[in-house]
Amino acid sequence: MKNDTKNISIHDLQSNEPSYLETIFSLANGHFGIRASDPIANSSTAGTLVNGFYETSDITYGEVAYGYAKKNQTIVKLPDLRNIKFVDDQQRAFDQSQLISESLDFETGLLNSTYKISNPDGKSFELNLQAVLQQSNDEVIGLRYTIKPVDYFGKVVGIKHFNTDSATQKSDDPRKSRTVDTLTYAKKTIDGQQELIEVTTKYSQMSLAMAMSVSTGLEQVFSLQPNQTVTFDVIGLVSKINGILDLDNLPKFEEILKDSTDFWQEFWQNSDIEISGDDSLNQAIHYNLFQLVSSTGRDGKTNIPAKGLSGTGYEGHYFWDTEMYMSPFFAYTNPEIAKNLIKYRYSVLDESKKRARTLGVKEGALFSWRTINGQEASAYYPAGTAQYHIDADIAYAIDRYYKVTDDKEFMKNYGLELVLETARFWKNFGSYSEIHCKKRFCFFDVTGPDEYTALVNNNYYTNRMAKFNLLFAVDLIDEFPKKAKELGVSAKERDQMANIAAAIFLPYDQIKGINQQDDSSFKKPVWPFETTPKENYPLLLHYHPLTIYRYQVNKQADTLLADFLFDDISHDQLVKEYDYYEKITTHDSSLSRSIFSALAARIGLKQKAYDYFMATAKTDLIDLQGNSADGLHVANLGGSWLTIVSGFGGLRVKDGLLTIDNHLPDQWDKLAIRIKYQGRLLEIVYRKDATEIHIIHGEPLPIKVDGIEETFK
Ligand code: BGC
Repeated sequence: MKNDTKNISIHDLQSNEPSYLETIFSLANGHFGIRASDPIANSSTAGTLVNGFYETSDITYGEVAYGYAKKNQTIVKLPDLRNIKFVDDQQRAFDQSQLISESLDFETGLLNSTYKISNPDGKSFELNLQAVLQQSNDEVIGLRYTIKPVDYFGKVVGIKHFNTDSATQKSDDPRKSRTVDTLTYAKKTIDGQQELIEVTTKYSQMSLAMAMSVSTGLEQVFSLQPNQTVTFDVIGLVSKINGILDLDNLPKFEEILKDSTDFWQEFWQNSDIEISGDDSLNQAIHYNLFQLVSSTGRDGKTNIPAKGLSGTGYEGHYFWDTEMYMSPFFAYTNPEIAKNLIKYRYSVLDESKKRARTLGVKEGALFSWRTINGQEASAYYPAGTAQYHIDADIAYAIDRYYKVTDDKEFMKNYGLELVLETARFWKNFGSYSEIHCKKRFCFFDVTGPDEYTALVNNNYYTNRMAKFNLLFAVDLIDEFPKKAKELGVSAKERDQMANIAAAIFLPYDQIKGINQQDDSSFKKPVWPFETTPKENYPLLLHYHPLTIYRYQVNKQADTLLADFLFDDISHDQLVKEYDYYEKITTHDSSLSRSIFSALAARIGLKQKAYDYFMATAKTDLIDLQGNSADGLHVANLGGSWLTIVSGFGGLRVKDGLLTIDNHLPDQWDKLAIRIKYQGRLLEIVYRKDATEIHIIHGEPLPIKVDGIEETFK
């Protein structure tokens, strides 16, 4: 039976703006993505994006200084595979189109779009375009064009070539991408049915090939007759970076559709979430999970761009978003992908060691704040490189993966080294200082997750995470002594890490009774919220950063994120802390609300938890941030899963035990989630007055449910 909440159509959306729809209905398979363009419109935002395929350019600074990031890395927008041209019997292009319907099926991965296409006389036909990406061989896309006359009858020429001169847009919004005009295309028409182009970037020296095959011909003539339809298929190919394409063994459209359907069926089998009592929410969650998986590089060489493969926003860069917002979902549902995301970090470890040296830190690795190739691409270090916490975020993701999978092999081969090199960074980056007559280990001039506060001393989140990173390294050194020795760890270094972790300073305000965001945060005036007009949000687009930094104002969860991750402060303190930071948070980042929702659920603020969640769940579907046209907010897609599972579902691993607390919102009758845990597949069903756990396959498991430990079979 078809599940109504596993598809979406334009009727479910509030905006029909073309570039917004291109994002919402984009398709991807981790390797490449295709925006859902109108096929005849030559939109400047349409095109194909390949994960990890970027061009570099010099970052130009007015005033340069030692160690600044040198090169931009910009994901390249490649020709649009949907694009086609139709010409009428007088050689005139059908140049008008109107979208009639569009829907995306999350159970098959099939996108179905119908347009009314007209010639200059206003005579038209209906074009239905079906698009689906292969998932097992991720270089392939199937496109099926079906044409049905409305009031145009007679000859039509369908012309399908790569359009390599699509227009580009320039903008001052830092969240958008810069334009790339340094590509070389070598076009080859193999025969009348196949065309291939090789694309080379001038500076990053990357290349790939795109091809398409049209069995009825790249330029085909057909005649439209009443009550008749014309159908033809296009099989498109997008090679791996520096790879070649196999044009001789192309699958058929039906085979691609079957491959995609099999993939999504298995996916839902292992990862489904069902909320009873709110269909539109259920649909939003299914959409989010569908797009999250589509966005994710699965090969260990690529990662998750902040906007996925749905748009060029943030230039296709990978951020801490992966570790803190997206990888939790994979760790608990598809650990293989979570593992490959960490392997990507491992692949840029050497680059990150170099970065640490550039920053004057003599040991360890510093991962770049935003990057594709491992080198720092952030030209604004106060909200870029200074977010050193990314190192500990990576360590945290490794810990999560390890807890959920118990994969010792991976820890020996990759995990330990990454945790060690990040811990070494903290050890050498920080220094002892006297605070309240005690020697404390401090980190100076850092930026926490909240980008509205920069270059401060002892950011609580950073210090708490660094403490965790060091302690985790110590635990792993004890667990894998032989491997640790091979990596150069001595007993002295191990003890030094333990001592530093114990001495790390965590700012706390005695009078307020809460953790303090950093050494100076509470001394600053609170941002004048009452006199800030609504249209001046997000603040980053209306105020100089230095204006923002002078005030207590948060872009996103910072101290509260640490509270969420560590679950280590009393309920009373958490309530106070939540209340304080909520009042100064703008949620100008889409990474904010999910954490506020999950924490609210944990402390029993039911309505708040629900309201924040509703905005989180539908961020892109209601275009909450106003910029979904640039690409999906993928961290938020993962954040919505996190809120449900860790917030409402209270799921975490605590003291070595899978732990669950039922915080079901009043608005829902039931919540069912599926997760994997140490080789088992579990279904957890939360009801208003009970929590059921089914081990679908795997060994019995002790779980703590609402404070009581029980073994489930
Ligand atoms: C947020 C960062 C995030 C980046 C990419 C920014 O607006 O403040 O935390 O990493 O977007 O999503």
